[in-house]
Amino acid sequence: MTLYRDIAIRINTRIEQGLYKPGERLPGVRPLSEQFGVSISTVVQAQRQLESQGSIEARPRSGYYICQRPWLKPELPTASRPPQKPMPVTGQELVLQLALAANQADFVQLGAAVPHSAFLPLRALQRSLGKAARSYQQFANYAFPPGLPELQEQIARRMLMNADAVNPADIVITDGCQEAVALSLRAVAKPGDVIAIESPTFYGLLQVIDSLGMKALEIPTDPQHGISLAALQMAVEQWPVKACVTIPNFSNPLGTLLSDEHKQALVLLARQHRFALIEDDLYGDLGFAGDRPRSLKSFASDPQDQVYYCSSFSKTVSPGLRCGWVHAPVASTERIMYLKHVSNLATSSLSQMALADYLAQGTHERYLRQVQPLYRQQVALFSQAISKYFPPGTRITQPAGGFVLWVELDPRIDTLALTHRAIEHKISIAPGQIFSASQKYRNCIRLNCAQPWSPRLEAALIELGRQVQGML
Ligand SMILES: Cc1ncc(COP(=O)(O)O)c(C=O)c1O
Repeated sequence: MTLYRDIAIRINTRIEQGLYKPGERLPGVRPLSEQFGVSISTVVQAQRQLESQGSIEARPRSGYYICQRPWLKPELPTASRPPQKPMPVTGQELVLQLALAANQADFVQLGAAVPHSAFLPLRALQRSLGKAARSYQQFANYAFPPGLPELQEQIARRMLMNADAVNPADIVITDGCQEAVALSLRAVAKPGDVIAIESPTFYGLLQVIDSLGMKALEIPTDPQHGISLAALQMAVEQWPVKACVTIPNFSNPLGTLLSDEHKQALVLLARQHRFALIEDDLYGDLGFAGDRPRSLKSFASDPQDQVYYCSSFSKTVSPGLRCGWVHAPVASTERIMYLKHVSNLATSSLSQMALADYLAQGTHERYLRQVQPLYRQQVALFSQAISKYFPPGTRITQPAGGFVLWVELDPRIDTLALTHRAIEHKISIAPGQIFSASQKYRNCIRLNCAQPWSPRLEAALIELGRQVQGML
C-alpha cells in the first residue's frame, strides 16, 4: 500500500473516532510526521488525499481544518420485492454486449467488479508465476481433478479461517468461482428445476441458471439483513426448490453480511426442506473490520446438510488466474470431479502451481490486512461523491466489506439508457436489470469502487450525476 494512503486512513480514523472534531484545526505537518514516523512530504500527500475526499479543508495561511459538516450517509436502498414465482432467466446477453463495449483502455471502469491491478498483490504473484514457468516438466501436464495437491492443501488451510476444517483431498479446483457454482448447480439440479436466489444477485449466477435451462426464483432481499428467510420458507413450501444459491459474506451487489444467527437458520431451513445450499464466498476475505466471517458450511452439523462451498482468488489475487474451488458434501465430491473433467479436463496447471507457491509464501494475510482498509476507504469515497454529485434522494448501500456499491436512483431513471450515455463518456457502469431474472431494478446501478481515486475518476462520477440529473 502507498504510505500516504495509509496515513490518510489513520487520520480519517481519528476523525471518525472524534479525536479530531469538526471545525478543529488538524495538527500541522511537522507534529503529524513525528507522530506517524513518516516524512513531511508523505503527510502533505495524505492531507491532499483527505482534502479531495472532503474530510478536511484548507484555510488560507492557517492550515487544514476538519470539515464542519460531517458527511451524512444517504439512506439505504429499499428491500427488494421481486415476483415470487419461478421463471426462466432472460436478457443476460446484454452483459457481454456491455462488457465488450466498455473493454477499452481509456474507459473509467466502474462496471465489472474487478479490482484495478493497483489493489492486487501482483508483484508477489509474478515471482510465483516465474517460478512455476521454470518447472516445465510439471506444467506441461494436465492437473486433473480434483487438482494440484499443493494448492488443495493451501486452500484447506485458508478454509480453517472461516471455521471449516476440511480434508484437502475433497477440494475440487475449478476455473474460478463461476465454474464452482455451475458445477454445484449441475450436481444438484437438472434443466427445469427451481433455484432460489437472492434478489438482486450477481448476474454471472443468472447466466449459469440460464445456460443450464433451470428456473430462477427470486427471493426478497434486504440490503442490511440479506435474504428474507420468511419469504424463502414460503417459497420452498410452495415450489419444489432444489437449491438456494447465496452470497452470505459481503454479497454482490448489496454488500450484505449475514449474521451468524441468519446463517444458522438458513442451514436449518435447508435441512428441514431438503434443498441444497450453494454458497458463494468470493468476498469473505474482504471485510472492513473484525474477524473473518464464518461460512454457511461451518454451520452444517448434520450429515444430511447439503452445503456446497464455492470461492476463488479472483478478487484477492488475480481474476486472470482462473483459479477457484468447490468443497461439496463428501458424497458428491466424485460427481463434481467428473463434471469438472467433462467440462474442460482440468484447470490450468501453470495457474495452480503459481497460486500454490504464492499462498505458501505466507504473505497473503498481510496483503489482505492492507487492502481491507483501502477498500473501506474507496467505498467511503465513492459514497461521499455520489451523495455530493447525484440528485437528492439517491440511495446507496453501506457494505461491510467488498468493493461494490448498489445505488438506487429515482424510479423515473432508466439505467440501461444511463449506461449507454455513460459509455459515450467512456465510463462503464452495471445497470440494475442484469442483476435480476425478471429484469427488475431498472432504476439501480452497481459501481465498482476498486479504482484508484483520481481527478479523472471524480470527474466521471460528476458526469454520471449530471447525466442522472438530466434524465429526470
Ligand atoms: C459473487 C460472484 N461470484 C462469482 C464471480 C465470478 O468469479 P470468478 O472470476 O472467480 O469466476 C463473481 C465475479 O464478479 C462474483 O462477483
